[in-house]
Amino acid sequence: MELPSKIFIDGGDPAETKAADELLKKAGFPGVAGQTTNPSLIAKRFKKELGSTNKDLLDYYKKTVQEISRIIPNGAISIQVIGDPARPAGGLTTEDMLSQARDRITWIPNGVVKFPATTAGLAAAEVFCQEGPVNITLTFSQEQAAAVYVATKAHNYDVYVSPFVGRMDDRGEKGMDVVANIIEMYKKFGDGHVQVLTASVRTVQHILYALWLKSDVITIPFQLLKEWETQGFPLPPEDFIYDVPGLTEIPYKELSLDVDWHEFDLHHDLTDIGLTKFWEDWKTITAATP
Ligand code: E4P
Repeated sequence: MELPSKIFIDGGDPAETKAADELLKKAGFPGVAGQTTNPSLIAKRFKKELGSTNKDLLDYYKKTVQEISRIIPNGAISIQVIGDPARPAGGLTTEDMLSQARDRITWIPNGVVKFPATTAGLAAAEVFCQEGPVNITLTFSQEQAAAVYVATKAHNYDVYVSPFVGRMDDRGEKGMDVVANIIEMYKKFGDGHVQVLTASVRTVQHILYALWLKSDVITIPFQLLKEWETQGFPLPPEDFIYDVPGLTEIPYKELSLDVDWHEFDLHHDLTDIGLTKFWEDWKTITAATP
């Protein structure tokens, strides 16, 4: 049975990708359509498997996505650029990100390069979307998603935007509102070239609402996929109501997509916090410049 959204796995363990693919197919769904990885997930699995002494984490990242690619050869597999946000010359300038992207895209035939929703990240994605698929990660606002749309208009490959819902919920904001707002904005004004990838998904309610909203993609951690399975893979009814009390609503904003993307306010503190955390997790394994 087709679902309104493609299902990706959020993780760094190829064994989970394989198990998730089997589990979805067994339930009559199309199987895993892609995977999102990030520096924290890769570092975590590295530590579990090899301890924290080996410095060749980048090579491990490459081998991990190559293994995943063999399991889902037709899936879209996101590989993230990495650097020290406190020291832009340490890996997160537009030029650094572009050179990392041009290397990462050679790792596998079905790679998607993940850039952060920052000014430097979008400047890199604006260029790179003509060379390969891109996924704009750590997105927390409608403004950032509007900028993604405009910056990637001249794309030759797939473009994804990843609103992180769980991290907003964690601090009392209704993260799913950002997904709903982006979908509404793109539907009203867009040409449909940006796929909305609901990320940082923590609950079955997140999955149900994202399906109800017809988010193009939902990336789900394996444990949560199993929880959804345990509940019998419920789907949202037509009159589904996402009722999560205690979260502050995020209102829709009327934004024009007919402007230069630099005009949007791209700053969001959760983007900054997310970049720092990714870098810290990566550094626990290797202090070397990626
Ligand atoms: C998506 O691309 C990210 O890897 C992921 O969804 C982040 O989720 P978290 O907020 O649970 O770390």
